[in-house]
Formats: sequence, C-alpha cells, structure tokens
Amino acid sequence: MACFFRRRIAAKLGRTLQQSEDAFIPALSAVSVFKKQKTADFKLPISTLRTNGILPSSGDIQLQTENLASQLNQDSVLEDISADRGVIYFTVNRKLLVQKMLEPFGGQEDERFGLNSELFNTLKRGTTLVEYSSPNIAKKFHAGHLRSTFIGNFIANLKRSLGNNVIRMNYLGDWGMQFGLLGAGFGQFGCQEKLKQNPLQHLFEVYVQVNKEAERSEDMKQAARDFFRQLEQRDSQAMSLWQQFREITVHEYQHVYKRLGIHFDVYSGESDHQDQAQEVVQQLQSQGLLKTSEKGTGVVDLCPDGDMSSVCTVLRSDGTTLYITRDVAAAIDRKQKYHFDEMIYVTDKSQANHFHQLFQILLSMGHSWAERCQHVPFGLVQGMKTRTGEVVFLEDVLNEARTRMLDNMSQSKTTKEMENPEDTAEKVGISALIVQDFKGPLLSDYKFDWDRMLQAQGDTGVFLQYTHARLCSLIRRNEGIEAAAFDPSLLLEQTTITILQHLLRYDEVLYQSAQDLQPKHLVNFLLKLCHLIASAHRQLPVKGSPRDVAQARLRLFSRACSVLANGMRILGITPVDKM
Ligand code: ARG
Repeated sequence: MACFFRRRIAAKLGRTLQQSEDAFIPALSAVSVFKKQKTADFKLPISTLRTNGILPSSGDIQLQTENLASQLNQDSVLEDISADRGVIYFTVNRKLLVQKMLEPFGGQEDERFGLNSELFNTLKRGTTLVEYSSPNIAKKFHAGHLRSTFIGNFIANLKRSLGNNVIRMNYLGDWGMQFGLLGAGFGQFGCQEKLKQNPLQHLFEVYVQVNKEAERSEDMKQAARDFFRQLEQRDSQAMSLWQQFREITVHEYQHVYKRLGIHFDVYSGESDHQDQAQEVVQQLQSQGLLKTSEKGTGVVDLCPDGDMSSVCTVLRSDGTTLYITRDVAAAIDRKQKYHFDEMIYVTDKSQANHFHQLFQILLSMGHSWAERCQHVPFGLVQGMKTRTGEVVFLEDVLNEARTRMLDNMSQSKTTKEMENPEDTAEKVGISALIVQDFKGPLLSDYKFDWDRMLQAQGDTGVFLQYTHARLCSLIRRNEGIEAAAFDPSLLLEQTTITILQHLLRYDEVLYQSAQDLQPKHLVNFLLKLCHLIASAHRQLPVKGSPRDVAQARLRLFSRACSVLANGMRILGITPVDKM
C-alpha cells in the first residue's frame, strides 16, 4: 500500500542525506493523476526540505534538486527517479505497485485499506466529543440543522475510522421562552390526540398559533411568562407537559435519524444545564469576572485591556441565564462526564461569534482544555423546498428525495427486479443530499437544487451509488472466478495503473480531511475514482477475457469497490448493491 512505498523512498532519502527517514514521510505525496503529465507516482518538493532545515535554504533550488536526484539510485522498488523544477519524482516498479495495492487482506480487513497508514501517527488520538444536529423542540428543522447533521456525522465517522473514541451528542434546544408559549398555548390550541398522531407537526402548529396570539394579546404573553416561571421553579404539572413534548420529539427524531443511518450516544439539551448555569454565574462572580452593565445585566469583559469594549452577557437583569451561560455550563459538565480530549461543535457560521465567546469565557475561568474545543462553521443553504412548498421537517426532505429518486429509477429495468425499491431510492436520495452538501468548502453558501443533485451522470451522490452498484453487480456475476492469487503482470495497462495511482492518495486524502475537517477532499477523491472506474469498465472487460485475466481484473474492481464503499461510509452514505 501507499505506506510501503513512502517508507522505501524515505529510507533511501534518509540514507543519502544522513537523516532520520521519518523526516521525509510528511514531505512525500502521491502525484495526482488528474493534474500531472507525468508517469511518476510520488513527489518530493525540495522547498519543504529547505523549510524544515534538511537542506540549506540558500543556493539554487534547481541545482539542489538535480544534485539530490542524481545521488538517489534506482533499485528493484524504485524504477525511476527524476528531477523537474524543484521537485523530485519517483516511479515505483509497476508489477510491485499492482501487487502491493491489490494485495488481498481477505474478509473484514479489506475495510481497513488505507486506514492503518503511518501518516495518521502524528494525529492526536483520544476521545472526541462531536456535537451536531441539535434542533429546537417545536421549531422548524431547517436546512442548517440538516447540514449540521450531515457534517457532524461525517466528522464523527472520520475520527472513529482514524482510531479515536467518539461520543456523538445531540444538544436539543429544549429550554427557554418557547416552552412558556407552548405550555400556555397548548391548553388552548393543543390536542392530545393530534400530538400522538403527528407530534412534530402538531407542536409546530400550536407554537405558530400561540405566537400569533401572543402578538396581539397581553394575556397570552403573561400566561407564557407564568408558565415559563413554573418551569424554572420545577412545578410538577408544568414539568410533566414539558417532559411529554421533549420525549415525543426525541422519539420522532430518532426515527428520522435512523432513516439517515445516524445515531447519537447522548441526547442532551439546554434544559440539563439550568442549575449549573446559575453556578457558573456564581463562579464568574467569585473569580471577579462578572461585571454589571449599565443596563443591569451580568456581563463578562472579553477585552484583554479590561475596558469593557467587548462584553458577553451571561445574566439577564431579571436573574435568568442565557443560551451562552448554558453553553458554558454544558461544556464544563461534558468535560467532567466524558473526559474528552477534544470537543467539536457543528453549526452554521452565524454562531461563530457565540462559540468564540464561549471558548474565551471558559479559558478566562481557567479551563485550559477549551483550547481543544473547536467550532466547525458552515454556510447557508438557499432554497430548500419540496414540491408542496417550504420545508418544515427533516422528514419532508427525506420523503421528497425518496419520491424523486423513485421516479427517476422507475424507468430502469433493474428497479422492477428489486426487492425494496423504496429503500434503495431512500439511500440513493440521501447520498445525493450529502454529496451536494459536501462538494464545496463548508463555509460557502450553496443553492439547493433537486434536479442537479439527482443527476446520474454528473458529480453526484447518485453517480457514487450507481458506480458502487455496478461494481457489486460485476462481482456478483463473476462469483466463483475471483481468486486470492492473481498474476500482477496481467494488470499493467495504463487504465489499471491510473486507478492504483489514484488509490495511493487515499490515506493522504483522509489525513487532509482529518486536519481541516472538510469533507470535500474525500468527496472529490471518490467522484474521481468513479470516473476512472467508468473507463476501466470499458477498457478492461471481465466477460469474454481469459480466466486469468478476468481474475486479475476482478481483483482490481473489487479493491476499487471496497475503497469506494469505505469512503462512502465515512461520508455517511450507505452504499447500495443494486440500483
Ligand atoms: N439549538 C441550536 C440552534 O438550533 C444549536 C445548538 C448548537 N450547540 C450549542 N452547544 N450551542 O441554533
């Protein structure tokens, strides 16, 4: 695999330059088959050796490159070494490339392809808490929540694959004035029957109605305030209604998350940290960090000069706490409960300042672990609509994706042979949503576009699924032919070499994603892999080829299939075998 070759090259460089070979590993990378005009597999930019002090940073870089290249001799593994414009290129012996990259692991281990890479050794391992999705009870599940759900799941999957212990947490918006309104309004507009039948819908309807009513009626406003006060005082009747709303909502969400193939280890929420938030205020007070503003609110001064030019409000003038106060309390509580080594919050970019302030407050309280807390922000999605109109619930989006996909699939004859076309349509539809979401930098806004995301040929989730299903069908049709042993010299066509060169990059791509937590590297890697596979289907037929050739080609296709499937799973996509 890629590691084997990187190690060989590093060892050669280490011997030549009398350095530890490890120093060269991060500087080496596989050459992208889409960028190069070269046949080489790995490259080493001399500039990195200059920056890390291995080579003198003065002098002519071209000359340095050529000099070094001329000292590196070819051997049985490295077939060619050449210099070009400040970069040294290495070409691996073709047969060995085929053999190493297609080495059968057999069984389960195939799923570990690329994941045991020594590139990951420098990454910190430990417990990662990822908080994502985090919708608000009785309110809309908007596109931002959907993005957070996908992205957080991806980050959790990636961290898990790279050997971290991962805690997946959903932090519900389950406290605040909205429950005052909801509680007060439920008596008037609510109906237990409807609540049982269609909980999310009904709670939302009541919430909308109550809000309207509260706008024109002072009585309703007062009733809402009263109800919320009862909640804050843990009045048992008020609490039991609140509890019911929360339980029903979580139950519904769990069902929808299941459709997405997503689960959470913990459902926490703002309500869990009410009392702790008051304790936080006291701590801030005793540490001398709590100031009173002119308006009578409690604030923390975030300005290094202490001139109150930038403050964060943590306490209202009526003594109640805020969203941020609960977040401070929640973070401290999580650290105590889960002993995480790092914590990641996934929300849209409008909350960037909130998290910045949160981490600052934690640090000023002496919680140095806040250095290892991170907010992963993302951009807005415009125009997420279904045929019937605006999206209110997560389920609406999933249903729409399924229906549209089912329509598209109904033309194909394989659909008629399928046992459960709805299930396939659902999985493919979800992958379309995910790939659309992950293709660009997370911070960019994008336009939601059903037609584009569901195209079978473009760079879409449908294309990933289609490629995977086609590979599975090829493997199924040739069951019995596949053999563990194959002759590498039967796989020396350029089409094969190109695929293997692309696979050499897999661990680097995961490494890159682990560094910046951006899914685009992996998505684009997989889409490119699918394009290469499409030409391989044309150029390397299995059917009608002599048995040994067919065996060797199947080996290539099944390796490509397993890398594709594993990569898709990390993205949060469930690969389908037929479509
Ligand atoms: N419920 C919030 C919202 O919908 C997101 C929560 C983000 N997480 C946090 N710890 N503040 O905007």
